[in-house]
Amino acid sequence: MATVTFSGITLPKDITVYGVAGDRGTLLALAKKNNIPIPCQCQDGECGSCLVKITHLGNKTPLAVDLTEKEKLTLSVNGKLTREALHASENDHLPPPYRLACQYIVRDEDILVEFSGEPGVEIDLRRPKKK
Ligand code: FES
Repeated sequence: MATVTFSGITLPKDITVYGVAGDRGTLLALAKKNNIPIPCQCQDGECGSCLVKITHLGNKTPLAVDLTEKEKLTLSVNGKLTREALHASENDHLPPPYRLACQYIVRDEDILVEFSGEPGVEIDLRRPKKK
């Protein structure tokens, strides 16, 4: 079972949900199912509005590494996928940090998903943590 923690400035606090292994759903679908407000306009890998930063948690080898062709193009155009990161993804099975939620297939792994809500806006605009 995948554990997915969403963190964004539009959320009052981080929200952790569980994905079913083998579901093959997208990260955006999982977010919608759990009322996580990740912006999405095209839902087809073309607009970049669903940009997220993914951090793999734990010691497992990352599974969701492969990018769709649309994801590669949209991330590259938005300056979120360098040639080096693409090469590392395709050849070394290392996941790039930025992904598109509508293209990312949730796998059986634990991840932190950070989103700002606006294309091109740096993801590290995290709200201060509540104590
Ligand atoms: S919603 Fe447009 S790229 Fe994901």
